[in-house]
Amino acid sequence: MAEKRKAEKKAGKKTKSPLGVWLVGARGGLATTVIVGCHAIARNLASGTGLLTETDLFKGIPLASLGEMVFGGHETRPGTLYDAAREIQEENGTIPLHVLKALKPRLLRIDKEIRPGTLVGAGKAIERVCSGPNLLRSPHPVENMERIREDMAAFARRKRTRRMVVVNLASTEPAGPLPACLKTWKSLKKALSSRKPPRLAPSTLYAWAALDLGFPFINFTPSRGALAPALEELARERGVPYFGNDGKTGETLVKSALAPMFKYRNLQVLSWEGYNILGDRDGAVLSNESNRKAKVATKDALLPGILGYPLHTHVGIDYVPSLGDRKTAWDFIHFKGFLDFQMYMQFSWHGCDSILAAPLVLDMVRMADLAGAMGDSGRMTWLSIYFKKPLGVREYDLHKQWHLLTEYLSRVRAALP
Ligand SMILES: NC(=O)c1ccc[n+]([C@@H]2O[C@H](COP(=O)([O-])OP(=O)(O)OC[C@H]3O[C@@H](n4cnc5c(N)ncnc54)[C@H](O)[C@@H]3O)[C@@H](O)[C@H]2O)c1
Repeated sequence: MAEKRKAEKKAGKKTKSPLGVWLVGARGGLATTVIVGCHAIARNLASGTGLLTETDLFKGIPLASLGEMVFGGHETRPGTLYDAAREIQEENGTIPLHVLKALKPRLLRIDKEIRPGTLVGAGKAIERVCSGPNLLRSPHPVENMERIREDMAAFARRKRTRRMVVVNLASTEPAGPLPACLKTWKSLKKALSSRKPPRLAPSTLYAWAALDLGFPFINFTPSRGALAPALEELARERGVPYFGNDGKTGETLVKSALAPMFKYRNLQVLSWEGYNILGDRDGAVLSNESNRKAKVATKDALLPGILGYPLHTHVGIDYVPSLGDRKTAWDFIHFKGFLDFQMYMQFSWHGCDSILAAPLVLDMVRMADLAGAMGDSGRMTWLSIYFKKPLGVREYDLHKQWHLLTEYLSRVRAALP
């Protein structure tokens, strides 16, 4: 540890204020696993397996340590963060009991930094599953955004820090066209000053508040409103780094590694059918057709992108309550080779959603903080490897996305004193 500190100092890292991490959906399965995991690793109760930022790839790169992260966030459900962690322990067993016991006082303390969010504009499925008391309910989106922004700013003041990263880990909002007013910052401002202001999705308000405060923002969900063009304009104006959409953690991760193999051997994929079953709250929200559509859209985008031709694809998602956080995906690939001979491949994936996703969130928080410190702004395209639908990046091949990341790290190294 002492050696790591010395190395960080040598790499130009000054003694600094804590790194604020603001999670939207802060008592959700994923956010809870992020917070518990971060503290468990920082206290040597667990190893850093799963975190890319704990590997030699990042040697010499001045990243925040896990111990300097302080957490807060918005949530709409009742209960405490400790309740959420205990539920995960009992239902999934992914949080070990000794970790839960050791972290109980800390989780209860962090819970005091979780503020009620808003569900105005979130859609019926989320309201049904995620509603709690004291939510922000103003019919005017600007009023809700200002309250959200003040919650974030007050947390940063309390923690005496200006370093903060905001991550959207809230439920997937319904699909559908973005409101026209989100096309440009000017049209958004105009629409909001009219007598009948538009309804904006909560993801839009959280991202707006974060970017307006100059905090790097990551959208781990498929909710498109979070990084609509109007908000990207705001981010550019404020010089803030940001990225999304929809963390790539399971079946889609495998697809993005496997599809290039067919391309590299000129094996033509005729059809790629995928079927996912999952439980939990995420699954309950995705059992609503409109919310599911948003997820399918990000999961289905990559195959033609990698292979370079259209093919028959299908992504099915079904809610199976008994599975909890354990997701099963079954993929069937029909392809042809030399002499047009047809062959098949199948794989099944049995992953645990939050365990796969939480380290990605911590990696990206560290890298978003790093980007801010390096003076980078705009889309953090080098984080494409972490997303199903990386914003504005047409590169879906996992191997090429790996190069985007390593090239960025080389640039960082070259810029260090
Ligand atoms: N492997 C993964 O876990 C994975 C991968 C990619 C994307 N995601 C996305 O991450 C998100 C979180 O996943 P999860 O498994 O933790 O789901 P979850 O349902 O357990 O957690 C979501 C939390 O967000 C809260 N919430 C909903 N709307 C909110 C709002 N408007 N403001 C504040 N809080 C709100 C809910 O009450 C809930 O506690 C989902 O959108 C999911 O699609 C997860």
